Amino acid sequence: MSALKVFSILLLCCVAYSVCYDYKTALTDSLLFYEAQRSGKLPSDQRVTWRKDSALNDKGNSGEDLTGGYYDAGDFVKFGFPMAYTITVLSWGVIDYADIYTSTGNLEYARKAIKWGTDYFLKAHVSENEFYGQVGEGSSDHSYWGRPEDMTMARPAYKITTSAPGSDLAGETAAALAAASIVFKTANSSYSATLLTHAKQLFNFANTYRGIYSQSISDASSFYSSSSYADELVWAAVWLYKATQDSSYLTKAESLYQEGNLQYSNGGFDWDTKTSGVEILMSDISSNTIHKTKAKSYLDYMVNNQQKTPKGLLYIDQWGTLRHATNVAFLLLQAVKLGIGDSTYTTMAKSQVDYALGSTGFSYVIGYGSSYPTHAQHRSSSCPDAPATCDWNTYNGQQANAHVLYGGMVGGPDSNDGYTDVRSDYVHNEVACDYNAAYQGALAALIKLGVS
Ligand SMILES: *[C@@H]1O[C@H](CO)[C@@H](O)[C@H](O)[C@H]1NC(C)=O
Repeated sequence: MSALKVFSILLLCCVAYSVCYDYKTALTDSLLFYEAQRSGKLPSDQRVTWRKDSALNDKGNSGEDLTGGYYDAGDFVKFGFPMAYTITVLSWGVIDYADIYTSTGNLEYARKAIKWGTDYFLKAHVSENEFYGQVGEGSSDHSYWGRPEDMTMARPAYKITTSAPGSDLAGETAAALAAASIVFKTANSSYSATLLTHAKQLFNFANTYRGIYSQSISDASSFYSSSSYADELVWAAVWLYKATQDSSYLTKAESLYQEGNLQYSNGGFDWDTKTSGVEILMSDISSNTIHKTKAKSYLDYMVNNQQKTPKGLLYIDQWGTLRHATNVAFLLLQAVKLGIGDSTYTTMAKSQVDYALGSTGFSYVIGYGSSYPTHAQHRSSSCPDAPATCDWNTYNGQQANAHVLYGGMVGGPDSNDGYTDVRSDYVHNEVACDYNAAYQGALAALIKLGVS
């Protein structure tokens, strides 16, 4: 089917059922969500002004400045592994849809969202083979309900080293810095070069000193346990190739792919598992047609065989159903861009994003539409402005969150489209930096396709 025909059909649906979606507003709001997640000293152009400076004493074991970066989700731990994935995937969208970011007035905000992560990664990369992968301790952080501006619990910092390695964490961070170096290539060439230098060092660290980061940073294992580092090593080499055009990285990617025996599973693409994303990127840069075949068979499976809720949401995992569904949507749209997919991919991708935005009558994106979550599990937005008290009574109260966390997409419904808007349900009603990353890219891709 021609692109024009797809466009006409989608336009017809939009007019006939009068369910058009404002992807531009959703994209703009998603960048506001990232502002709300900022840790550290906030800049003068901060738009989410109910957030203030916080965690200004975040330090490494030798006193290194580790302020900045992003709070992970509804909590205030800075988990490096999902944060790096977030920056890689956000960058992917900005690289491929820079024109859309520009035309919607979001390019500068998107660059700042990426730089908020990369500035922190540069600080955390304290020497060639040493990288801080977490600040804050899971259980003490989670036993606190209140504003990040007021927290007083100890925030220990944890690093990977040659004797306690983490190839997944170092690899994903290398990917993030390499991808971000492309974003900044013309906007700030010296910054771009700095990002690339650190990306190369972190890739060497990842590749030379092999290990699973959540065994080295054991506190992360209860929250973001990594299943393997084989995918991140390939993913990092791929992004380094894209950033440098140095064919040795492509060769490295192919050999690491063989060595790691990368096999996509029919599960999701997420902070832990990048194999399906690797296949899409390799389809573009490798002459080996196996990648295109595998990318297509993964996505065909998603479209035709993956479990779906009665209302059509891809159901991959109970945790963050919408994140998984919109991650797949982004990959489907990337495949379409590469000429691998057809209109069934576009239709499926659009239906997943539209589900998030309210096709069932309820929007799962905070502040979007007329009916959306008002009790998301999210500490900072739940709190009224200081000096009002904010504690577990606030959490337990029936009242709505005090601030509208524009753009944050909650976990989403269960396998039967069921959902309850309560703060206690972190499985379905929490937000997270990683949830919004590919979703934001999918919004840009849909705007690019001219559908609504
Ligand atoms: C480039 O980035 C560096 C590092 O953050 C910054 O100090 C500098 O002002 C930036 N330059 C431009 C032109 O934005």
